Amino acid sequence: MEKKKIHVLLIEDEEYDVRRVRNTVKPFNERIEILNIVSDGKSALALLRNGKSNYDVVVMDFQIAGGEMGEVLIQKIKELDHSLQIIVITKMTINITDYNFANRLIKAGAFWYCTKYPVDIEEYIYQPTDFVMSIFNAYEKCSLERERLKSNQKLIRNIEDILIQKKIVGESPSVQKLKEDIKKFAQSNVNTLIKGASGTGKELVAYNIHFNSQRKFENFVIINCGSLPNDLVESELFGYEKGAFTGADRKKLGLFEIANNGTVFLDEITELPLPAQVKILRVIQDGEIEKIGRTEKLKVDVRIIAATNRDIEEEVKAKRFREDLYYRLNVLPIFVPDLKYRKEDIPVLAEHFMTSISIDMVKDKPSVQNEAMKLLTDYDWPGNVRELKNVVQRLLFSDEKIITPPLVKYALGINWKEKDNNIIREFFNSSKILSLREMEIYLRQKYFQFIRENSESDTEAAGKLGLAPSNYHRMAKELGLK
Ligand SMILES: Nc1ncnc2c1ncn2[C@@H]1O[C@H](COP(=O)(O)OP(=O)(O)OP(=O)(O)O)[C@@H](O)[C@H]1O
Ligand SMILES: [Mg+2]
Repeated sequence: MEKKKIHVLLIEDEEYDVRRVRNTVKPFNERIEILNIVSDGKSALALLRNGKSNYDVVVMDFQIAGGEMGEVLIQKIKELDHSLQIIVITKMTINITDYNFANRLIKAGAFWYCTKYPVDIEEYIYQPTDFVMSIFNAYEKCSLERERLKSNQKLIRNIEDILIQKKIVGESPSVQKLKEDIKKFAQSNVNTLIKGASGTGKELVAYNIHFNSQRKFENFVIINCGSLPNDLVESELFGYEKGAFTGADRKKLGLFEIANNGTVFLDEITELPLPAQVKILRVIQDGEIEKIGRTEKLKVDVRIIAATNRDIEEEVKAKRFREDLYYRLNVLPIFVPDLKYRKEDIPVLAEHFMTSISIDMVKDKPSVQNEAMKLLTDYDWPGNVRELKNVVQRLLFSDEKIITPPLVKYALGINWKEKDNNIIREFFNSSKILSLREMEIYLRQKYFQFIRENSESDTEAAGKLGLAPSNYHRMAKELGLK
């Protein structure tokens, strides 16, 4: 492979020394090219500002005329492009055994420095092979730094993509608080317990904590405690060595090892069997894991985020979940509220899913009639945001351009019931005011119907209503139900 030429910028104000530098690198002109020569710091900086990526190495005289020079110039060059490597040449008059001076140069950001040969040596600026070698080495360092920068930028872009994909949508006060908590908790390294009903967004929260934290470049390992078979929990979490038991024909990395320096997300933590709870506690307390078939323990550094949709305090009381582990996990608790308690988020989330799913399905985003949106907002969402997302998906499958109330009712499907609070709402409809008597009859009708549907016989229904059977029959007749 043909090697790229090393592009050098020379900052030197004495013609004589320019000639000596040129001459020193001349045998290597195939690899080293002095692209530009300037005689003062200001022009050097101007040049670097226009096309800094053209240069790999700067060779600069320490003392030059025209203001910018020395350490300040080194610092300014490094600020413009940190990957540029600077080789300093100084006059003999500067004491070569002065370590202090060397230290100052390195601290300012220089790669290397040498003392010019005495002026009576016309050919070379310095011992030529040493000088050339240092340019090659400076170039290697420059390339490495540029490579690293590139891969870091790629990683940062990946993380930005993840954070866009896992964006937490919603503006309700509780979601704003959630976002603040995430920011705060991401800065710390402490274990976190996320509580909330199914489909509220707990996993989303865990993603956001990890990918906003110092650990974002390390692994984020999701472990669903509910789906780990009992007898495999240990080997999955902690792994085993080759030959640890019959059938262990090679070693297996445990999930905690894979997550080392990163984050483990223990989802459905209450499903973890008690023996495994003890092991997790030990990881938290000692930062060590016990691998099956390995005598010495293995150090790991993991942050634990756990989540549950169960009442974990109840599990602790019932002794199904270890209290000590609970306290260790619950250092920073986060609660994700049910969707029905943050109704203002429903239209925002619905719109968000309409947009994103339309894009995925490569179709135009439909518009939603106000009444249809109202139905979505009034609905109770027992399955929370996940259910809302599914309903939006169903709506988009219908291929309608305009989302109407009947479409919404249909999409809500079996979930849809004329809810009790809808009946109540009918009484507060200003366009249809009922008299007290009408309201009572209406309510009695509905209530009688409801009790009858949930009773085996009229006698049982009468009993539930606290009525004698004869009165029950009479009233049912009056209400037009018999
Ligand atoms: N605030 C939100 N903004 C955008 N999408 C959300 C939000 N909350 C939840 N979602 C989406 O809803 C779905 C369910 O969220 P998630 O899996 O995080 O819920 P969960 O609380 O972990 O549920 P479960 O307890 O059932 O595991 C996911 O597709 C998620 O992306
Ligand atoms: Mg989940």
